[in-house]
Amino acid sequence: MPLRIAIFASGSGSNAENIVHYFSGSSEFQFPLIISNQPNAYVHKRAETLKIPSFTFTKEQFFDVKPVLELLTEYNIDAIVLAGFLLKIPTLLIQHFPDKIINIHPALLPKFGGKGMYGARVHQAVKEAGEPETGITIHYVNENYDDGNIIFQARCPISATDTAEMIAAKVHLLEHEYYPQVIEKIW
Ligand code: GRF
Repeated sequence: MPLRIAIFASGSGSNAENIVHYFSGSSEFQFPLIISNQPNAYVHKRAETLKIPSFTFTKEQFFDVKPVLELLTEYNIDAIVLAGFLLKIPTLLIQHFPDKIINIHPALLPKFGGKGMYGARVHQAVKEAGEPETGITIHYVNENYDDGNIIFQARCPISATDTAEMIAAKVHLLEHEYYPQVIEKIW
């Protein structure tokens, strides 16, 4: 039986698309569902092209959990991959999928994580701190932002002339290379 994974994304969804492409034709992993909290997120366009149904839940619906769980059950979802999803995952959802929810963070946790640390803000903070390197962290999801057990990290160097955008581009390359591989390895 293939593992059926839902992807949660709030933004562009380049990781979501990359993961789906990586596993296309796989008999072990299926990605039948994309969930967002942003109706206008570009990830919906990508989902359309990929022919994967995508749904939006409001913040209220999301924290109610029931409607989300119903949809996940309807699609026989076994695991959840967060790919740029900005809402906190409610406890009930975590309890429903023990060790089956992972997230990718665009920096080397435990530094540069926590509430409000997402997207460009992370790369700006890394730059301002004068870090010689940054990277990605893939971790299990618990009740706190960016706090669950770390599964994998990859690093890349930063030079003093790198802008936050340049750092983001380097990190995205790492994300696209490693996120699918880690999913394949742990599940
Ligand atoms: C990635 O940098 C990811 O690490 C972070 O949000 C970003 C999502 O990028 N959590 P994309 O929407 O997959 O392009």
